[in-house]
Amino acid sequence: MSKPIVAVTRIIPETGLAMLRDRCELRVWQDELPPSYAELCVLAEGAAGILCLLSDRIDDSVMDAAGSNIKVISNYAVGYDNIDLTAARRRNIRVGNTPGVLTETTADLAFALLLSVARRIAEGHAYVQAGRWKTWGPELLRGYDLSGKTLGIIGFGRIGKAVARRGTGFNMRTLFYSPSAEQETFGEFNASKVDLDTVLKESDFLSLHCPLNEASMYMINREALMKMKKTAILINTARGKVVVHDDLVEALEKGWIAGAGLDVTDPEPINSDSPLLSMSSVIITPHVGSATYETRSRMAVMCAENILAGLEDRPLPYQVV
Ligand code: DGY
Repeated sequence: MSKPIVAVTRIIPETGLAMLRDRCELRVWQDELPPSYAELCVLAEGAAGILCLLSDRIDDSVMDAAGSNIKVISNYAVGYDNIDLTAARRRNIRVGNTPGVLTETTADLAFALLLSVARRIAEGHAYVQAGRWKTWGPELLRGYDLSGKTLGIIGFGRIGKAVARRGTGFNMRTLFYSPSAEQETFGEFNASKVDLDTVLKESDFLSLHCPLNEASMYMINREALMKMKKTAILINTARGKVVVHDDLVEALEKGWIAGAGLDVTDPEPINSDSPLLSMSSVIITPHVGSATYETRSRMAVMCAENILAGLEDRPLPYQVV
């Protein structure tokens, strides 16, 4: 009997591919760059499973291209805003993701960005590299303390809580905005629930951890940025489209906020002529929140587990729909 075809849209760690090789006919996209939309449709043709990345738009046409065989879509990410869930539901296709495993890794990066912008680490490094370090300077590269400050968090799920936990180690209090949060306060994180206005106005550091959906799309716009403290630093490791980037440029140019650390941008990759790239108060990393050897390897295993379950018509271990 022929094996089911599984389309894999990029080379993922071998831990996951090895689990699939015996059971499936793997069709793995080999390039570093993603398949174009047209190439993605061709890759998906006849597939029973699609193992995709957050940069692949998986919609009606891709599902149509796969045809009647398609049973499962397994996203190599916890976020799944790239997949049309309504289209998947309509076809009884199971959709899975990789929750939990990347929580601490992503929280680490959010905190690394926060510290880097607050203490001007990248600027300091560039200053030394350029041979400009002549002496100890009383006013050289002054930044902002974390201790005693307010950490604002939008989206208080696993990653938001993990960032708040790190904040307690730096003697910070947390205010969070999260309409779906199950409690008003979380004593263990020194965290209290507030409305959006309050988190914008009172945060010294505002870190975004919400999924991208209708409510969060472009939530951090001109109006929101104008409410923030002039000394505030914005951190985004969630999705680029939560922030209006032109408005962020204006906010930084006009001094409405002091800096930003972005692991995600809109678009991705960021346009090479974006003014954000030449601002010393901004640090940008290329969407690497979950990028550690351990986490990316475990994500590959979870994706493979989702594919195998879907092919056998079982509920996925990490099922979205
Ligand atoms: C996710 O999983 O959604 C991250 O953005 C990438 O790991």
